[in-house]
Amino acid sequence: MTDITQISGTTRVFAILADPIHHVQTPQAMNRLFSSMGLDQVLVPFHVSPSDLERVVNGLRGIKSLDGFIVTVPHKTAIVDLCDSVSEAARLVGAVNVVTRTCDGKLHGEILDGEGFVSGLRQAGIELEGRAVYLAGAGGAANAIAFALAASGIGWLTIANRSREKATSLVDRLAKAFPDLQVTVGTSDPSGYDLVVNGTSLGLKEGDPLPCDVTLLTADQVVAEIIMKPVITPLLAAAQKVGCRIHEGLPMLLCQIELMAAAMSSSKKESCHECV
Ligand code: ATR
Repeated sequence: MTDITQISGTTRVFAILADPIHHVQTPQAMNRLFSSMGLDQVLVPFHVSPSDLERVVNGLRGIKSLDGFIVTVPHKTAIVDLCDSVSEAARLVGAVNVVTRTCDGKLHGEILDGEGFVSGLRQAGIELEGRAVYLAGAGGAANAIAFALAASGIGWLTIANRSREKATSLVDRLAKAFPDLQVTVGTSDPSGYDLVVNGTSLGLKEGDPLPCDVTLLTADQVVAEIIMKPVITPLLAAAQKVGCRIHEGLPMLLCQIELMAAAMSSSKKESCHECV
């Protein structure tokens, strides 16, 4: 944790915008990271309701000591139109979760959920090049993961979702953005894929249905989660029983924290005497 007694007039400030906010873990994680890197930076929670988002964000433009902010539920979609520019990934996904503020108050949005997930797989030594991937889900998290997986060099991506029309819409958008990638709408059958990913919220609550038919998993598959609590979801427990390699939900957050810190710190105004 950052020693708050060291916060001074030169400390660069970051924020996280959410509603509700009491449960967020990002301030602790980010402040530990800033501290370990010896950075004079602090991240604070901003509880902002959707009806106040626009005026809060416009106000943040004028805070010269603020270098950026993280945006989470329920603001990830609404923030897109409040930024002056967004990354290609954010445009494709239609969501932003990190905003950097330039010296002159301009806001640039990026989406790092999917990149965090892919980095987590890579750090664990899970090969992606040319692989066949099954992704359960077509909601906010699954969209971000799908575009990041598509950009990672995989060969085939199948999207399966309870509401099929959302899977079809995601597949159409992926096919347009990545014409060389084989993309299909799937069923609950995850057999034959190298990597099976749960990108739904299933597994968070006790008694949730499983995100795919686990009786069809085979020992040669890798099964990955985005759910962090519980650490071993019913999907991962079933995969372990079959003998699959499993990949838990936590690395996605850890990698994303690093990516966020890097993205926000890169916005530091080294050349501007007014801002630093
Ligand atoms: P997030 O931002 O966490 O991705 P979301 O956008 O609400 O949240 O998406 C939740 C995902 O979990 C969706 O893919 C959703 O399926 P639908 O699009 O059909 O709603 C999936 N999901 C949630 N509850 C589910 C359930 N009981 N059975 C099947 N899928 C479920």
